[in-house]
Amino acid sequence: MERPTPTDVEHEVTSVDMIVSKSDAEGNITYTNPIFMKISGYTQGELLDQPHAILRHPDMPKVIFKYLWDNIKEGKDVTAYVKNLCKDGGFYWVLAQVRVAKNPDGSFRNYVSTRKQITDGAKEAISTLYAKLLEIEKSDGVEASEQALMDFLVENGQSTATFNDFMMQLNK
Ligand SMILES: Cc1cc2nc3c(=O)[nH]c(=O)nc-3n(C[C@H](O)[C@H](O)[C@H](O)COP(=O)(O)O)c2cc1C
Repeated sequence: MERPTPTDVEHEVTSVDMIVSKSDAEGNITYTNPIFMKISGYTQGELLDQPHAILRHPDMPKVIFKYLWDNIKEGKDVTAYVKNLCKDGGFYWVLAQVRVAKNPDGSFRNYVSTRKQITDGAKEAISTLYAKLLEIEKSDGVEASEQALMDFLVENGQSTATFNDFMMQLNK
């Protein structure tokens, strides 16, 4: 499928929207709820078995997805802001919580992402942070951007262990 050309048209996520998807161990989509399809503009047929990167917006720094995968692979939940690309090139912001679901015998079942609306304040702060991280990635690579993200958390009174808490607090 051809990548949509990004536009500056924002798709609204309302306070009652809970955008859910599930994936296999590689991040390929195995389930989406109706609001996921409504906001992204894709049909279920276009989404199932596709990698979640179908939603990847070029404004997203790589380091956020590195952090996501480093943690969920270890079974740790991650909460992070994500700007997603819609089929029509528009975008939407969400606060996503990705967690690992296990079978009763403890084996891996799937990854589940639950996404909700974010506040205007969080949108402003995180857009600025992500633009900076993206710039650092372009000039100095992902490791430099990872260091900048950790420095940012420490400067804001957070240790790296509380990345999730920081992301959640900002949305209040
Ligand atoms: C359950 C789950 C949900 C995900 N949701 C998104 C999402 O909404 N948007 C997104 O860009 N990436 C999402 N990802 C991350 C993608 O798998 C991928 O790492 C990311 O899009 C970067 O893609 P790239 O490495 O091809 O650039 C999700 C991953 C998992 C496991």
